[in-house]
Amino acid sequence: MKFMILHGPNLNLLGKREPAIYGSITIDDINSSLVELAAELGCELAFFQSNSEGELINAIHGSVLECHGILINPAAYTHTSIAIRDALSAVGLPVVEVHLSNIHRRETFRHISMVAPVAVGQICGFGGDSYLLGLRALYKYVKNSL
Ligand code: DQA
Repeated sequence: MKFMILHGPNLNLLGKREPAIYGSITIDDINSSLVELAAELGCELAFFQSNSEGELINAIHGSVLECHGILINPAAYTHTSIAIRDALSAVGLPVVEVHLSNIHRRETFRHISMVAPVAVGQICGFGGDSYLLGLRALYKYVKNSL
């Protein structure tokens, strides 16, 4: 089994970016912990980060060729991107949406997710652990549906 891990805009700055909200964890720390978990679960991962909506959409389209599911933190595009939602819907792979922060206790514009209605589920508020919980959930969901 293989999963695509997608990180949206500004997540390349984790560690330096608003540490009071996102903590000191970096994107490399997150990816390393996911690689460890994948070894435990016995699955493969592909990683992609972009600050560009179109590149994320191309990565979503590409996922269908080799992946069984998508774990995505769409970052700010969560709240705005019908195009990313449509791409996820178009490829039809199971999707788990994750966020480091609890978007529902932040500004009201973050309470809306364009992606949530096309995702199996959403995990937010657990910092880097949101990704680990998300991968476990996605793995189990796909395994149960094979
Ligand atoms: C985020 C939450 C979004 O609202 C924000 O735009 C981000 C990060 C999170 O992981 O908590 O860039 O997706």
